[in-house]
Amino acid sequence: MDIQTLRTPSYPIDAQFVERWSPRAFTLDPIDERTVLTILEAARWAPSSYNSQPWRFVYARRDTDHWDSFLSFLNDFNRSWAGRAAAIVVVMSKRTFRIPGKDEELSLPTHSFDAGAAWAFLALQASLIGWSAHALAGINSDHIRSKLSIPDDFSIEACVAVGRAGDAALLPHFLRAKEVPSDRRPLVDMAAEGRFVDGT
Ligand SMILES: Cc1cc2nc3c(=O)[nH]c(=O)nc-3n(C[C@H](O)[C@H](O)[C@H](O)COP(=O)(O)O)c2cc1C
Repeated sequence: MDIQTLRTPSYPIDAQFVERWSPRAFTLDPIDERTVLTILEAARWAPSSYNSQPWRFVYARRDTDHWDSFLSFLNDFNRSWAGRAAAIVVVMSKRTFRIPGKDEELSLPTHSFDAGAAWAFLALQASLIGWSAHALAGINSDHIRSKLSIPDDFSIEACVAVGRAGDAALLPHFLRAKEVPSDRRPLVDMAAEGRFVDGT
């Protein structure tokens, strides 16, 4: 079944939104650094509060000196499949910002919201050029902070595994049945004019 049959939008959105998904089965195709930077370039153009651009990225590609260290950032479950990814990106955000021309460092309550927008742009760009990006919250943030010397005023938001989607047979057995694009709850359960709805 193709992805558009599995994921049918209720309103006429661009196909890119339903065609992006988060596979775990990756081929062992390597990714060149220019492609990683192309994907991160899209993230750079995300909107942010005060245009503060609080997102930061550190990446490693498979079969480089950094790879084993980046794999050690993931929990056991995520490591069971993400070892075949072509790259892992650590997404961080700065909790403070400075208004241009001023010295004072102000709190930025939107730092995670803004980094989330950047992640979404990253994922869409990857998908548009034939790669897949899979966000990972199952990570060890303390370990990442210490290994990469991340300063205290930066939050570690998530990691992202980037790879080329492959056949589910590439996965450990216990993950194969899950390797299908997911659906979404109906829009009426989460959006309404003038009143709060929570259809969960
Ligand atoms: C912030 C974030 C953290 C996630 N963490 C994990 C994770 O640790 N392991 C995993 O296998 N998937 C993880 N996912 C993937 C989600 O389960 C997936 O995005 C969701 O089920 C929707 O599916 P789709 O991305 O294919 O549309 C994460 C996604 C996001 C956005």
